[in-house]
Amino acid sequence: MTVDTLESANLRNRMVDQLIADQAAKGLTLPASVEAALRTVPRELYAPNTPLPEAYANSAIVTKRRGEESISSVSAPFLIAEMLGQAVDALDGLKGRHVLEIGSGGYNASLLAELVGPAGSVTTVDIDPEVTDRASACLAAAGYHDVKVVCADAEHPVEPGRRYDLIIVTAGAWDIPSAWREQLTDGGVLVVPLRTFGLTRSWALRRAGQELVSHSHRQCGFVSVQGAGAHEVRYLDIADGVHLRLDEDQQVDPAMVTELMLQPRRQAWAGFSLAPRTVLADLDLWLATRLVGEADEFVILTAQEAAVESGVVAPAWRFGTPATVETGAFCYRSELLWTGQKFDVGAIAHGPHASAAAKRMVEHMRAWVEASSPSPALRVFAAQTPDGDLPAGTVLDKRHSRLVLTFTPTEEKGLS
Ligand SMILES: C[S@@+](CC[C@H](N)C(=O)[O-])C[C@H]1O[C@@H](n2cnc3c(N)ncnc32)[C@H](O)[C@@H]1O
Repeated sequence: MTVDTLESANLRNRMVDQLIADQAAKGLTLPASVEAALRTVPRELYAPNTPLPEAYANSAIVTKRRGEESISSVSAPFLIAEMLGQAVDALDGLKGRHVLEIGSGGYNASLLAELVGPAGSVTTVDIDPEVTDRASACLAAAGYHDVKVVCADAEHPVEPGRRYDLIIVTAGAWDIPSAWREQLTDGGVLVVPLRTFGLTRSWALRRAGQELVSHSHRQCGFVSVQGAGAHEVRYLDIADGVHLRLDEDQQVDPAMVTELMLQPRRQAWAGFSLAPRTVLADLDLWLATRLVGEADEFVILTAQEAAVESGVVAPAWRFGTPATVETGAFCYRSELLWTGQKFDVGAIAHGPHASAAAKRMVEHMRAWVEASSPSPALRVFAAQTPDGDLPAGTVLDKRHSRLVLTFTPTEEKGLS
């Protein structure tokens, strides 16, 4: 493959400069070792036939689709940078570490190879033989001959008997299979994009005995895990360009929500002036843990740009906004109300019980702000753990694990 190396290096450096600036705007710092790796590995070698500027755009490059759905991609640089940063921070560096990457493509595996150095090791596993063949070819072309590529369903142990300091999952998971915990050394770290209440966060979880305890989390989105651990996501049409995202075990009648949406809109505001850095992704998980037991269904609203522009809906974030559905009310977190540099949060509801539903959502927002905008913390236990052995918090039962979410105050207060 012929590559214009000077242009490639320039684009790569520009991409990394932008990643550093974007992370700084979020209050994050890209670890120096991750920066060095990103400046070293030519991303275009993992995206053959992609024009060079696209290979260095800050977005995923889809490499395989099933119908409309993307099932494999070279992950977006900002996500890779944030997740590698989570791993480096949680393990205090990756030099000499032994790593399992779940979901191959080659690019992230080669960054990991740079990070662990010759004393460490990287195994990458993918369920899809087309992906592993491609990843093997790309890694060989780029000169990363020591990365081991395995084709298997990573729901099960990948190299039986082996333990890793880091397992980094690069597909969206609904659950944490016991094999992921058991393949970690004690103190080892699992970085995993995990869906809880329909909201995906990349969690860095450290193993402590049979438990996993969160170290950090970031908002993210990924193609879904396939194979034995697959858990379907469904989209229901409720208006032109407006959808509800549901987990496979949730039931909502879309016609009922469509009917409710035809009724006038009620808006409620929390009544705060919040600082721009307030992490609203944390508020969304807070709302989920509070509303899930109070409304019939807690769901995620998504909308196309045209539906927002034409005023059909005014969600906080059109790619995924908390919403509740019950008899007589459909409610969601609304777009922000800006006054100068500060903003307020609010809710919109439709239906005969709209005012009560909007008021309830907004009261939970007030409680979050008054508690100093706490951040979620996650502890993961094996499925057979008895209730009495779980700590206080919101318990979410999955197939192989029991998750407990709690909220801890953040240092920076959003309230002014
Ligand atoms: C976003 S891509 C991986 C990107 C890659 N890490 C990179 O370097 O950019 C996600 C991959 O996860 C794989 N995958 C999904 N479910 C899996 C499973 N159960 N076991 C192993 N791989 C899986 C998919 O086949 C897909 O190729």
